Amino acid sequence: MPNETLSMVGRLGRQSAGGPLLTLRGIEKSFLRQSAEPLHVLKGVDLDLHQGEVLVLIGPSGSGKSTLLRCMNLLAPFDRGEMTFQGKVWRPNEKGIWPDGRADQKMLQQLRSQIGMVFQQFNLFPHKTAIENVTLGLRRVKKLSQEEAQSIAQRELERVGLGHKSDSYPSQLSGGQKQRVAIARALAMKPTVMLFDEPTSALDPELRGGVLDEMKRLASEGMTMVVVTHEMAFAREVGDRVVFMDHGVIVEEGPARDVIGNPRNERTQSFLKSVLAA
Ligand SMILES: Nc1ncnc2c1ncn2[C@@H]1O[C@H](COP(=O)(O)OP(=O)(O)OP(=O)(O)O)[C@@H](O)[C@H]1O
Ligand SMILES: [Mg+2]
Repeated sequence: MPNETLSMVGRLGRQSAGGPLLTLRGIEKSFLRQSAEPLHVLKGVDLDLHQGEVLVLIGPSGSGKSTLLRCMNLLAPFDRGEMTFQGKVWRPNEKGIWPDGRADQKMLQQLRSQIGMVFQQFNLFPHKTAIENVTLGLRRVKKLSQEEAQSIAQRELERVGLGHKSDSYPSQLSGGQKQRVAIARALAMKPTVMLFDEPTSALDPELRGGVLDEMKRLASEGMTMVVVTHEMAFAREVGDRVVFMDHGVIVEEGPARDVIGNPRNERTQSFLKSVLAA
């Protein structure tokens, strides 16, 4: 698909939305450490994510990008601040993070299936086949019958070009194929938002293309996505907005072509110089 068409899809997606699909306000997160002060990783992050938008998150190692993604689907509970998603406000209290102040485990599970995540290291179950990895969430979370789950999983594997690998175990798949199974697994849950945490950085260069193509396809279909990546060509081509994070705060954000092509902040400039020189 030509570049103009891809960016057009993103723009149209955003225009059609009312308010943001997901908002983060004042998100803070610390990790406890033995015999040291807690490590303050997110120091008050505000972010709006719009329907159909592809948001690319960049920043130096340790700046808090993965932690922020994990906070967005509550794999890592944030300590302060609030997240609004589909009309529900998620806030922490002493027992966890709950929508509108209620302890509701089912809603938490639902939120995690609506905000799908793809990890750098795939995170497939090694003792399950490709199709079993995909059916798992459909059975456990969506409570579908084996037949229904099987048919959705097979369709999703076919969509990522792996219909013929459904009975293979992860150890029998290339890195790129494993990552495409992980994408199929998240998509099978029919998520509203997809989070990608450096999905191509563990892959050999020749395998990256297939995974990036899947992400471009999703973007062109209007999926709302947050992508942590060092693939600047992808960020420019597919990203609607780029957010640069450093030391747990958002330092600069704007249209991809401005932030990557003409960064204003000094820290963004030196980060991009180092990435583009690598
Ligand atoms: N579960 C954890 N327990 C303790 N510290 C953690 C944990 N997860 C992350 N950290 C620390 O939080 C900081 C931010 O980590 P994070 O993984 O969010 O960075 P990142 O921006 O994704 O970096 P990278 O580009 O290397 O993936 C780091 O100092 C890291 O060591
Ligand atoms: Mg990371």
